[in-house]
Amino acid sequence: MALKLLRSVDEARKLADAGYRAGERLALVPTMGYLHPGHLALVEEGKRLADRVVVTIFVNPIQFGPKDDFSKYPRDVPADFEKCERAGVDAVFAPPVSEMYPDGFQTSVEVAEVSRGLCGDKRPGHFRGVATVVAKLLGLFRPQVAVFGEKDYQQLQVIRRLNLDLNLGVQIASVPTVRDPDGLAMSSRNAYLNAGERRRALSIVTGLRRAQQLAREGVEDTGELVRSVREELELAQLREDYVAIVDAETLAPLERLSPSRPARALVAAFAGTTRLIDNVPLDAVKPS
Ligand code: PAJ
Repeated sequence: MALKLLRSVDEARKLADAGYRAGERLALVPTMGYLHPGHLALVEEGKRLADRVVVTIFVNPIQFGPKDDFSKYPRDVPADFEKCERAGVDAVFAPPVSEMYPDGFQTSVEVAEVSRGLCGDKRPGHFRGVATVVAKLLGLFRPQVAVFGEKDYQQLQVIRRLNLDLNLGVQIASVPTVRDPDGLAMSSRNAYLNAGERRRALSIVTGLRRAQQLAREGVEDTGELVRSVREELELAQLREDYVAIVDAETLAPLERLSPSRPARALVAAFAGTTRLIDNVPLDAVKPS
């Protein structure tokens, strides 16, 4: 079936209703476009879990702060459309801002605790914007499954929580971070990096992998793990926004790793003016 381009809420609802009546399982893949292989891995997971896949492409103004990059965020809907076509997507929903936020719009969704700390502290209002648009998209399409990346780890936990708390009943599937061959996490924002920044940005994943290795060797003190990540960032002269080791589900800060409590190491850092984020799981050594 040819790929459909949906521009309005009305068209989106019609497509969702038709699929619903036909008893098809729908997977939704929300994105802000400028698609890369990380996004396409979400599409593949959606195809595995459902009969139809809809990709949404919407640079959501309400999740950007006043100093953020909303107006210069990279956009290329024709190229994205082609990538979706090749990937076997059934429909792309790419609405204008006025369609998502018409005059009079005044509702927002706030997920309290997991939105705090980490990116929530550094980007006030960001997760309210994310939660609001994701709640709108899930409500509009009522998919059986929605697929998100571990790359945006705090966002994933915020969405899991809102899905539970609002009884949306969607299966929230997640996909591990897709990386360039040298390890850099793929991101639409990597397009901003010059060659030197791109090279220095690698210290983020190098630092995270070093912490992962130390954890495997039995280091439990998260202070020591954080220092090992910071050293890599400093060597590369990357400006840290935060380095944190937290409970993998609640995102509460941890002082020590423990085999009974899955943990995650997260980094946000600036390469030049570009803010990059990444994270990895940490496995504490089980006592033998
Ligand atoms: P965006 O940054 O375009 O990302 C869309 C989805 O792709 C998110 O679930 C994100 O975690 C995932 N993703 C991005 N890079 C990835 C990578 N390298 N590997 C695996 N998955 C990756 O995240 C957003 O858009 C927005 O906040 C959104 C959820 C669409 C709400 O506006």
